[in-house]
Amino acid sequence: MNPKIKNICCIGAGFVGGPSMAVIASKCPNINVTVVDINHKRIEAWNDKNLANLPIYEPGLDELIKKCRGKNLFFKTNIEQAIFEADMIFLSVNTPTKETGVGAGQALDLRWVEASARQISKFSTGNTIVVEKSTLPVRTAETVKSILISNKDSKDKKSNPKSKSFSVLSNPEFLAEGTSINDLENPDRVLIGGDDSKAIEALENIYLNWVEPQKILKTNLWSSELSKLTANAFLAQRISSINSISAICESTGADISDVAEAVGMDTRIGNNFLKAGPGFGGSCFKKDILNLVYLSNYYGLEEVASYWEKILDINNWQQKRISEIIVHKLFGTLSNKCIGILGFAFKANTNDTRESPAINICRDLIEEGAKLKIYDPKVNNLQIDLDLKNACISSNVEYNNDSWLIENDLYKTANNSDALVVLTEWEEFANINWQEISYIMRSPSWLFDTRGITNKYIAKKNNINVWQVGV
Ligand code: UDX
Ligand code: ADP
Repeated sequence: MNPKIKNICCIGAGFVGGPSMAVIASKCPNINVTVVDINHKRIEAWNDKNLANLPIYEPGLDELIKKCRGKNLFFKTNIEQAIFEADMIFLSVNTPTKETGVGAGQALDLRWVEASARQISKFSTGNTIVVEKSTLPVRTAETVKSILISNKDSKDKKSNPKSKSFSVLSNPEFLAEGTSINDLENPDRVLIGGDDSKAIEALENIYLNWVEPQKILKTNLWSSELSKLTANAFLAQRISSINSISAICESTGADISDVAEAVGMDTRIGNNFLKAGPGFGGSCFKKDILNLVYLSNYYGLEEVASYWEKILDINNWQQKRISEIIVHKLFGTLSNKCIGILGFAFKANTNDTRESPAINICRDLIEEGAKLKIYDPKVNNLQIDLDLKNACISSNVEYNNDSWLIENDLYKTANNSDALVVLTEWEEFANINWQEISYIMRSPSWLFDTRGITNKYIAKKNNINVWQVGV
């Protein structure tokens, strides 16, 4: 008989765990969903009465939290208790790239997955369905399974003498930040990998509360894990492709938005994900491609590895290229120049800065002696400080207290700046009043628009020099 799920636990209250559990709680009022995390501050923020203080900014998330929190959605730090009570446990912990040891720089660091699996095997009861939500290397489910099984009979289990069993499923999350609530509520597909038909049915039944059955795809574990890596690799590949063409446009007089439109109208290609920019950021693309490269090399497929590696090379090159253009246009030196940075998040509508192209571009400008004023509508000041300090330290770039200043307003950022650099496509930056801005910037003033969203004609009319990506 198909087990009826009454209590869900999600380990990891981050950008994946938080929104995906909020949507499950909202669509399944009869299921209790408890999200746990080792980070007490994060859990406190999820429980903050003021919804503006939630730890992640995501359009629509605050309404879901308001609707479900305290009713069937709970954020807690008592991980053992939540595991004990759960029929189904989602693993949404972080899986960054390994920094040291075997596979450093490419393979994923699974220490948090492993720690969670150990806790599950120790504190769970009865039959527990463990669902991998984090992006994981192919064949991780096997590792998780073996940890669960090897620990369950150990003496350790004194705390919980009842017999227990596990089913492991892979259910990769395809949400994109900034649109994650819509992506979760109206997914293109839901992928469930596994070999235990009862467990698959239990998870499928949860999604059937709001997803059409034909959108639920069932595969074996490894196809599911590899599909997630492949989807991200294909998406990243499109961005490197369009960014490489943006450089050709700038040299030849073609316009990248015309080229993208013409190419995207071919229904075989499609018109999404063809926006040239400063390179892709976010927690997934780089990490997943590195993981694919590692996997390919592991299986002796060097050609495949170097093919995917090139996507990352173009991404790094695009960021470097933009920094160099800025230096070149500002007469080859940035010392004593003030540059206003508009946007620090890796994309609009999120406060996430992981792998944001803004980090490397700002670091390069600091290295050239620029003083930066940085404004992002949603990113926390401390996060910007932390990212820039880390970037400078790891590249041996000298910085001091004057290297950057964080502003809370567009006009303060533009005031007395020699240049403005748009790095995130926040809507606010598409609607800048260039006339007002031209009065407060230093002359000659420059606008570097790496996202192609500003009105360059009006900016130019107001005596601002403009460089736009791919034009
Ligand atoms: C991505 C995948 O889209 C999602 O399915 C997966 O679950 C996680 O990784 P995310 O990183 O949140 O999601 O955002 P996404 O919209 O994919 O953007 C990634 C990066 O690509 C951003 O830096 C964005 O600015 C950039 N991008 C995207 C472009 O430069 N041009 C585009 O046309 C699209
Ligand atoms: P993602 O974008 O994949 O959601 P995040 O870094 O935003 O990644 O979130 C992952 C969360 O998982 C973090 O809040 C982290 O504290 C939490 N975490 C990591 N390991 C554990 C663990 N063993 N138990 C509980 N939470 C964990």
